[in-house]
Amino acid sequence: MKQFEKVQLGLYPTPMHRLPNLSRDLGLELWIKRDDLCGVALGGNKVRKLEYLLAQARAQGCEMVMTTGQAQSNHAMLTAACALRLGMEPVLVLKKRGVTQCVGNQLLNRLMGARVVYVDTDDYQEIYREMDRIAAREGKKAYKIPCGGSNALGAAGYVDCMREIAQTGVKFDHMVCACGSGGTAAGCILGGAIALPETHVTAVMVDTDPFDRIVPQLMRETAALLETDVPIPKADLIDMCGPGYSIPSPEGNEAVALMLRREGIVLDSCYTGKAFAGLLKRAREGFFRPGQRVLFLHTGGAGGLFSQQIDCLLP
Ligand SMILES: Cc1ncc(COP(=O)(O)O)c(C=O)c1O
Repeated sequence: MKQFEKVQLGLYPTPMHRLPNLSRDLGLELWIKRDDLCGVALGGNKVRKLEYLLAQARAQGCEMVMTTGQAQSNHAMLTAACALRLGMEPVLVLKKRGVTQCVGNQLLNRLMGARVVYVDTDDYQEIYREMDRIAAREGKKAYKIPCGGSNALGAAGYVDCMREIAQTGVKFDHMVCACGSGGTAAGCILGGAIALPETHVTAVMVDTDPFDRIVPQLMRETAALLETDVPIPKADLIDMCGPGYSIPSPEGNEAVALMLRREGIVLDSCYTGKAFAGLLKRAREGFFRPGQRVLFLHTGGAGGLFSQQIDCLLP
């Protein structure tokens, strides 16, 4: 498989451990992969993607790194933290959608001194044009990262994560991850086919985009980039978006509270809570056989949790 240059930003391998109380509750052997503990800011899945993307930005001699997302984007906050560490200037062109006050990730963006520009549109083409205008006005060479870092190069970070899991020698029957822009799911499902073929991967959708087209397309692009001829697997996607993207759901809130009360681990209401709610739903429906070994991928997101009001989070 083709190798690409990376910059070291995270502390890998991230820990992976059993969840004894929830295992007992659910009659499974439940494990968690702690990409929330990857060592940059509040951690999260974006760092594996950024190790590839920012290596490319540096190789291209870019001084400015631009990305986008919703106002409380974990991806944007982590892009700013990683770009600053590498001596590049972050510019976050964020959608006005969601909580724009200086709480949660916005608080961290402010503390980092990252420039935030709000745009009143959901149209990515318009957002990328705004990025081009900013870079042109300032005469800077800019590297543009798509929403969520979800292109083929970013998704390759999660192919690496699956290899990292395979290297532990622990065999899993199932793995469950969140799907918000598609890159993590594409990387995990493709990487699963490459490194953990006995593990069934379920991706839990937390947004309403057409992931049944997006994830297979990203897997094809990632496989082409990596020059692997592994057959593209079918994506198993389940919908736990509930009332809308980034709006807490009763099922997600129950999952956040359960993980905290039973295992002392913090999930968030936008991504990992809904993803864990998907795992709980499948466990309760009998999708997993008793005693099967199931891995939950913790993709971070704590920053966003602290932009929520308490009454929206109580189960
Ligand atoms: C905490 C967290 N988990 C999961 C995801 C979903 O990952 P992806 O965008 O690769 O689908 C995101 C995306 O922003 C995230 O911030």
